Amino acid sequence: MKRTLPALALLGSSVALAALATTPVFTKAQADAGAKVYKAQCAACHGTKLNNGGAPKLAGPDFMKKWSAPTLDDFYFIMHTTMPQTKPGSLTEKEALNVLAYILQQNSFKPGTKALTLKALKGYHFKK
Ligand code: HEC
Repeated sequence: MKRTLPALALLGSSVALAALATTPVFTKAQADAGAKVYKAQCAACHGTKLNNGGAPKLAGPDFMKKWSAPTLDDFYFIMHTTMPQTKPGSLTEKEALNVLAYILQQNSFKPGTKALTLKALKGYHFKK
């Protein structure tokens, strides 16, 4: 019986951690690679600054507000399956993740040492 107490305490703390909002992580290398893909395949419609094209804005306060509730997994899904509009689904998984890292950076998220991964997307939002 004595053993169950610490185990329960541990369980409690991991649940509490999972409930906390976490800030998305990505590396500068991912954002840099994503910038190239974005320039070549997205900028024509979404603008060179992500918010100065004819297509919906991908940066700025309105964009952040719109995407603060859905997860980055939802965002990635839309981006990966419907974009680029002229050739939907043509980005590789890696390219799409890199573009997402670039979009994060352009919304003033800071790159770090840990790479953005597909698995982590469900725990992230466009929210700091
Ligand atoms: C030919 C023009 C065109 C290109 C190229 C293009 N997009 Fe789009 N994009 C659009 C239009 C128009 C919409 C809005 C209509 C829609 O949702 O289908 C959109 C919507 C989006 C959305 C949803 C935004 C929101 O807030 O709902 C995302 C994310 C997105 N694009 C990302 C990208 C990325 C990343 C690329 C490059 C890989 C890209 N797009 C290339 C025209 C384009």
